[in-house]
Amino acid sequence: MKVACPGSFDPITLGHVEIIRRARDLFGEVVVAVGRNSGKQHLFSAEERLDLARAVLADVEGVSVEFIDGLLVDFCHAHDAEAIVKGLRFASDFDYELQMAHMNQHAGDIETIFLPAGPTFGTVSSTMMRQIAWFGGDVAKFLPPLVNEALVARIARNNSND
Ligand code: PNS
Repeated sequence: MKVACPGSFDPITLGHVEIIRRARDLFGEVVVAVGRNSGKQHLFSAEERLDLARAVLADVEGVSVEFIDGLLVDFCHAHDAEAIVKGLRFASDFDYELQMAHMNQHAGDIETIFLPAGPTFGTVSSTMMRQIAWFGGDVAKFLPPLVNEALVARIARNNSND
């Protein structure tokens, strides 16, 4: 069975990678949907987020990475994904994800399966990674090495432009 793991991945973290790997182990095949969240201002462009996710997941069998530029339910139908898998860290994730799950069930008859985030990366978020890195903190242990390098370089570039 193929499932979709959607997100904005700005940037992809080891928490994301863990959920994607566990989804692959459970269901066999995963298509990662890299999207735009209209409620967020992204640090990396859509192409950069897609390239980073593809580079990080290149060696993970059964996982592909595609851009989503429309409704998630249409993406699922187009890529033969039979369900959506999302990681849940804390209650606020659930409040938001439950609404999305209901809408995706209504709009496209697509079920959502929630996986609890593992204890190691259970509270890691891309937002937190960007914030800590922006203040000069080290987030290397929460990110794939090439993502950490890209994040440090992007923040340095943005700061030099200020
Ligand atoms: O990491 P995020 O911010 O939770 O990811 C958001 C994303 C891109 C997965 C979400 O905005 C999404 O599913 N976009 C597709 C548009 C859509 O279907 N929206 C309605 C879902 S109820």
